[in-house]
Amino acid sequence: MRVLLLLLAAGVGISRGGVYLEPDQRVRVPDGWTKVERVSGNDLVVLTFALKQQNVRKLQELVERVSDPDSPQYGQYLTLDSLSALIHPSADTLWTVRSWLEEHGVQQCESIQTGDFLQCEMPVSTAEVLLPGVRFHRYVRGTSSVIRSESQYSVSSEIAQHIEFVGGLHRFPPVRKVLVRSENKTDVKAGFHLGVTPYILRQRYNLTTGDVGSHPNNSQACAQFLEQYFSQADLSEFMKLFGKDFGHRSEVDHVVGQQGAGKAGVEASLDVEYIMSTGANISTWVFTNAGRHESQEPFLEWMLLLSNLSSLPWVHTISYGDDEDSLSAAYMQRINMEFMKAGARGLTILFASGDDGAGCKQVMKNKNTFRPSFPASSPYVTTVGGTSFKDPFQVTYEVTDYISGGGFSNVFPMPSYQVSTVSQFLNATAKLPPENYYNRSGRAYPDVAALSDNYWVVINRFPIPWVSGTSASTPVFGGILSLINDQRLKKGLPPLGFLNPALYKLQAESAFYDVTEGCHVACFDDLVLGEGFCAGPGWDPVTGWGTPNYPKLLKAFLP
Ligand SMILES: *[C@@H]1O[C@H](CO)[C@@H](O)[C@H](O)[C@H]1NC(C)=O
Ligand SMILES: *[C@@H]1O[C@H](CO)[C@@H](O)[C@H](O)[C@H]1NC(C)=O
Ligand SMILES: *[C@@H]1O[C@H](CO)[C@@H](O)[C@H](O)[C@H]1NC(C)=O
Ligand SMILES: *[C@@H]1O[C@H](CO)[C@@H](O)[C@H](O)[C@H]1NC(C)=O
Ligand SMILES: *[C@@H]1O[C@H](CO)[C@@H](O)[C@H](O)[C@H]1NC(C)=O
Ligand SMILES: *[C@@H]1O[C@H](CO)[C@@H](O)[C@H](O)[C@H]1NC(C)=O
Ligand SMILES: *[C@@H]1O[C@H](CO)[C@@H](O)[C@H](O)[C@H]1NC(C)=O
Repeated sequence: MRVLLLLLAAGVGISRGGVYLEPDQRVRVPDGWTKVERVSGNDLVVLTFALKQQNVRKLQELVERVSDPDSPQYGQYLTLDSLSALIHPSADTLWTVRSWLEEHGVQQCESIQTGDFLQCEMPVSTAEVLLPGVRFHRYVRGTSSVIRSESQYSVSSEIAQHIEFVGGLHRFPPVRKVLVRSENKTDVKAGFHLGVTPYILRQRYNLTTGDVGSHPNNSQACAQFLEQYFSQADLSEFMKLFGKDFGHRSEVDHVVGQQGAGKAGVEASLDVEYIMSTGANISTWVFTNAGRHESQEPFLEWMLLLSNLSSLPWVHTISYGDDEDSLSAAYMQRINMEFMKAGARGLTILFASGDDGAGCKQVMKNKNTFRPSFPASSPYVTTVGGTSFKDPFQVTYEVTDYISGGGFSNVFPMPSYQVSTVSQFLNATAKLPPENYYNRSGRAYPDVAALSDNYWVVINRFPIPWVSGTSASTPVFGGILSLINDQRLKKGLPPLGFLNPALYKLQAESAFYDVTEGCHVACFDDLVLGEGFCAGPGWDPVTGWGTPNYPKLLKAFLP
């Protein structure tokens, strides 16, 4: 894989006496947040320092080998200890960063098992001296409150050699909404189903009553962030209503992090209810990051947790994303490294492709481009798009859900595992959007898809219909991969790990229901008229390889 590993020198700006580590990070306050006040010097912030790792190139090569089915090392994953031995920061890095912090009186720091992040609590007054340029204010949105800086931070050129970015300064917590769409579904016909339930999914994806997990060491997880609480009582009620025809569990086994108080969120319920419906009878964890402190970044917190736990579920599904152009290259490259670390350990990480189709960014007046989303665009995760039934009231074939996120990264070059597939798509597709709307040389996504329209979810004890979005398709696909892991574990085989190299080698048409109809949304301008890419035969940047046909997919991944 040709993946850009190091922060490009050009990306690092130099200020008087200091270096801006993330000059390209958006510091503008996102919609919905209001600035309240300048915080006092005694207020505490918790900052996360990403320390430079060693053997980055070796890690990348290792991930390639352990996830390539044709390599003799396929499936030979690392334990957290051996991963740590490989990439742990150098003694020089640890010493330099720690001395710098101590000189400023920062003492309250916690590390993680891989040693490559430090999380430190300090007064605002200390942080503002440590990182020249920052000025903290408090911002609120509903009941959430965060401390952030709208001006860039800098560090000395010596420190810049040892840290990649500082978390907890600029990025605001994600606000996730699921779509609730009832349009065009009022015309109920005979022989209909009233929306997607576990029964419908299991029927469509060819899961029999017997296709449930049974290996004691198998497990799966979903992660959710700020203001996302799942409710155990809702999950039980959901399974009571919709779980009659397959063996399943009705309880989450392990909650990592703090569940907030207050009402359950529909997003959190959706993830848990559906990963446990396809990945039925498989032990399920929920990572929940209410965020222990106002300055923390919940997504980053989750990434740190992964590197601080030696025993983890094999499959993780996450419905979270930001515009690539709002994040610094340094941050995205480092998060991408964290995904490689997960791949080296045999974890499968699935992200929702997003609900804005190709997206749209205004570059200047009358000139737009599509807008890729990260982490969906990372070459080291498997990205899941969305579909809907051709006839919304029957288990017929699937077509593109017009919201399905997809496109080409402007940050990550196309990884070798998808080069021939994607160039074939680009060569063979007659009707493509104008070339200046997207980057043909970037990582193309999504990789796969599943239904994303018209789900039933139980929330606060009541079933509600019309829930939509790739946050529904992602746990559904994750649960199906967990079933495959179950069968692999039973045969003494390692779990699937980072899926993409194997997926693109399958010539996956045969194991998927190919989605060939429909286009996703994009800029509403004179050039593209609201239409991005369109699905076609084989892989496409709208629905990937298509949706899972379980028995065939199992056969493909179970030699
Ligand atoms: C990582 O785990 C150790 C104990 O297992 C704990 O002491 C430490 O605080 C954790 N690190 C972070 C950043 O939470
Ligand atoms: C709903 O139906 C109308 C008319 O059939 C069509 O123009 C419109 O695009 C449909 N909306 C969606 C979201 O499919
Ligand atoms: C899957 O389900 C479809 C539709 O119910 C059926 O035609 C097909 O034979 C099933 N099995 C496989 C392996 O595709
Ligand atoms: C559910 O999984 C457990 C192991 O976790 C297994 O003992 C049990 O037989 C499974 N149930 C079904 C219906 O397969
Ligand atoms: C489950 O994992 C434990 C610990 O790694 C191992 O000792 C045990 O043999 C495993 N069980 C099975 C059935 O593979
Ligand atoms: C296109 O993507 C490549 C990485 O694949 C990147 O280097 C380049 O800057 C991108 N072009 C634009 C215009 O963003
Ligand atoms: C796509 O077209 C280019 C130029 O015509 C050609 O060099 C390349 O081999 C083609 N790729 C595939 C996969 O067909």
